[in-house]
Amino acid sequence: MNGLFITIEGPDGAGKTSVIEELYPRLQLEATRKIVKTREPGGVKIAEKIRKIILDPRNEEMDERTEALLYAAARRQHLIEVVLPALNAGHIVICDRFVDSSLAYQGAGRRIGIPEIARINEFATEGTTPDFTLYLDVDSDTGLRRIQENRAHQYDRLDSEGLEFHQRVRHAYLKLAEENPVRIHKIDARMGLQEVVESSYSAIVESYPAYFKSI
Ligand code: TYD
Repeated sequence: MNGLFITIEGPDGAGKTSVIEELYPRLQLEATRKIVKTREPGGVKIAEKIRKIILDPRNEEMDERTEALLYAAARRQHLIEVVLPALNAGHIVICDRFVDSSLAYQGAGRRIGIPEIARINEFATEGTTPDFTLYLDVDSDTGLRRIQENRAHQYDRLDSEGLEFHQRVRHAYLKLAEENPVRIHKIDARMGLQEVVESSYSAIVESYPAYFKSI
């Protein structure tokens, strides 16, 4: 594996999707090798099917550990079909969410426990860890307000969670960032979109100058 594995993480309402949309073309212009932008389930047939089961509002009886195992299973398939082949070909992979999402959402949000979720994800990924993670940090009040203002997306099973769930998710992310200061780069996502994109861009390019033309 000689590519570069970058993940982007954050609680709901951090603006992850908009940031990636702006960040990706800029990185593409500067990269000295191919960049692959992906997100779980990433168009992978099996992972797409698993994701539909997780998000279906009719599956209200779903047990929390079932949910965690399904995320890990979808992750595994996406890793095998998309991420690892790209990394093995030497590409830069930008992945919207990875194991940290499960640690924060299932481990802390659903209160299963971070070590438990780390264990099943270790099995699923065989220890594949991102080289670099951008964590877009936003307080839960701001995050939830942003989601409510942009209610364009369809309601899914995870939208029914309240403020405390989102606070647990955010605190878990903050703790992960504190415990992994080399891998996880925290960015204040309460700033305007352009500032967040600028900080994200600089953080990546400055950390990996060999992969980009100029700073
Ligand atoms: P996603 O489709 O990435 O939407 P967003 O644009 O908010 O990032 O994620 C949908 C939801 O799935 C989101 O609330 C986070 C949740 N999620 C988990 O709970 N565990 C996971 O492992 C992943 C990848 C996502």
